Amino acid sequence: MKALVLSGGSGTRLRPFSHSMPKQLMPIANKPVLEHVLDGVGALGITDVGIIVGDRAAQIIAAIGDGSRFGLVITYIHQDEPRGLAHCVLLAREFLADDDFVMYLGDNILPDGVEDIARDFTEKRPAAQVVVHKVADPRSFGVAELDRDGRVERLVEKPEHPRSDLALIGVYFFTPAIHQAVDAISPSGRGELEITDAVQWLVTQGVQVIATEYSGYWKDTGRVDDVLECNRKLLEGLVPSVRGHVDDASVLIGPVVVEEGARVIGSRIVGPAIIGAGTSVEHSRIGPNTSIGKDCVLRDTHVDSSIALDGATVTGVRGLHSSVIGRNASIGPAEGHPSHHRLVVGDHTRIEVPV
Ligand code: G1P
Repeated sequence: MKALVLSGGSGTRLRPFSHSMPKQLMPIANKPVLEHVLDGVGALGITDVGIIVGDRAAQIIAAIGDGSRFGLVITYIHQDEPRGLAHCVLLAREFLADDDFVMYLGDNILPDGVEDIARDFTEKRPAAQVVVHKVADPRSFGVAELDRDGRVERLVEKPEHPRSDLALIGVYFFTPAIHQAVDAISPSGRGELEITDAVQWLVTQGVQVIATEYSGYWKDTGRVDDVLECNRKLLEGLVPSVRGHVDDASVLIGPVVVEEGARVIGSRIVGPAIIGAGTSVEHSRIGPNTSIGKDCVLRDTHVDSSIALDGATVTGVRGLHSSVIGRNASIGPAEGHPSHHRLVVGDHTRIEVPV
């Protein structure tokens, strides 16, 4: 079996970060979302992986490389613009050849794994097997209507009035039957070739399409709040380790990781929390549920339930909560005007202040 990982989307819901980086590289527990996805693919015993990349291809290729770091062989497949998930299958036709494959969305995190579902697919080999998860509000997902045996009767993309609470999550198992389906469908109302329509086409042909419920933790990391929630969840399993320097005036409470070259001076870190390599934390309170990237500086700062990306600097700010601070961003007192708020804020940025 091969894997097709989709990392071409533009990530408009993750602005401002997606202005300058692909959403699949957002760090969750200090590791890009896409690396979590590749771990999930590797856990299925798959080595041959195609990754669909869009206009942010260069950054993805620089971060992930040829896959050897993950024990994978990666082929990059370029998509000129996001034209839908089924369009990705069309583009990957040559790479996929006549093999079965798992299609995995590059921004979906399923830490509990889909090994059991993959095994079930390999044994039964239906034309397609989709993975579903019960959600409170399915309107922003593909929705599956099933019969009693778990066979799919109908799939609808983002219905206004969902007839079931089973959302399609970002993992699909396909036999080569899907290629005929993606050839047969036309673009949807939003102008994209929807994989939901392609699978529905298979259902209409009367071939076997199964849905299996995944009951573990799942997050589509499309929005900032999803990223923060997922960060909190993945930090739950953090194994403490201190490879950097922590001075005697500092305390670490609970699971805390201090990576190589990091320095913690006169600070209190409450886990779960990660302090990235080369980062300096001085006279600050960090955590819980906080990931600080590489080469950051935090001084006289209190922050919890937050993510700082690489190279961020925060000085003299207390009460930072549920915040995401971008790469090389700097927050601190205005030089020469300590009582002013001076903001240099990028496009689509959100700043919330106390009233
Ligand atoms: C896509 C699929 C949708 C699925 C969702 C899961 O939606 O079209 O059926 O439920 O991923 O994350 P998108 O996020 O591209 O709007």
